[in-house]
Amino acid sequence: MHSTLHIIGTGPGDPELLTIKALNTLNKCQAIVAPKGSPDGQSTALSIISQMVSVTEKEVYQLYFPMKKIKAGIEPCCEVREAWRTAATKILSLLDQGKEVAFPTLGDPAIYSTGYYLYETLLSLRPEVAVRFYSGISAMSSCSAETAIPICLGNEMLAVVPATFSDERIRQTLRDFDTIVLMKVHRVLDRICLLLDEANLLDKAVFVERAGMKEERIIRDLSEVPQNPHYFSTMIVRKNGMGNFC
Ligand SMILES: C[S@@+](CC[C@H](N)C(=O)[O-])C[C@H]1O[C@@H](n2cnc3c(N)ncnc32)[C@H](O)[C@@H]1O
Repeated sequence: MHSTLHIIGTGPGDPELLTIKALNTLNKCQAIVAPKGSPDGQSTALSIISQMVSVTEKEVYQLYFPMKKIKAGIEPCCEVREAWRTAATKILSLLDQGKEVAFPTLGDPAIYSTGYYLYETLLSLRPEVAVRFYSGISAMSSCSAETAIPICLGNEMLAVVPATFSDERIRQTLRDFDTIVLMKVHRVLDRICLLLDEANLLDKAVFVERAGMKEERIIRDLSEVPQNPHYFSTMIVRKNGMGNFC
């Protein structure tokens, strides 16, 4: 039997949002390879799981994944490709030693996550590699729960986009969809608030920082741009009310 890489969504930060399946799988893995966003930093995904799983008996590696813009269908820069390859090579060597390996990743691996880039790189090196994905609770689901704002109801259309898109793409998305979830909003909040104001949607937006964590901040009045936002910040722009169908 081949050893397997388990790519596991950790949820957005509150360790109680790890799924039971994630916990059971993490517990049975002998090695953990966790992504970190800066060379000298710590892996957030690792810090989330460490609150629920004892990692001291496991082999733990924190590998640097540069946070650069990636466009679908276009090769990323050399630094990013190198990082993916380094991680994939490390994982393959652990699998070859017969170890079950976990790769924890923030939120859900299906949404703007390194998990699938890693998967693609692994397949390019070894097409028969065994990989399983485990859904996690996404940041937008947690932001919705913390604010009691539904994401989409009835016949509404949802867009989930990085807030770093160009002004024109953001304008178009704000025009065309009923609910717009803006991820990675922390560095571009000023610009996003201007675009929301221009579209008359400022009062339909809510800013959620570190959803579900003890430092959580929820701002519903965006007439003043929130200062010093953390990387874990998301905006939900919902044009309609709460769905009063009765
Ligand atoms: C690389 S994306 C990862 C998304 C993740 N895979 C998911 O399923 O939500 C990082 C972005 O997720 C959002 N995010 C992650 N954790 C969050 C949290 N606890 N509260 C608010 N937003 C969060 C922020 O927009 C952040 O910039």
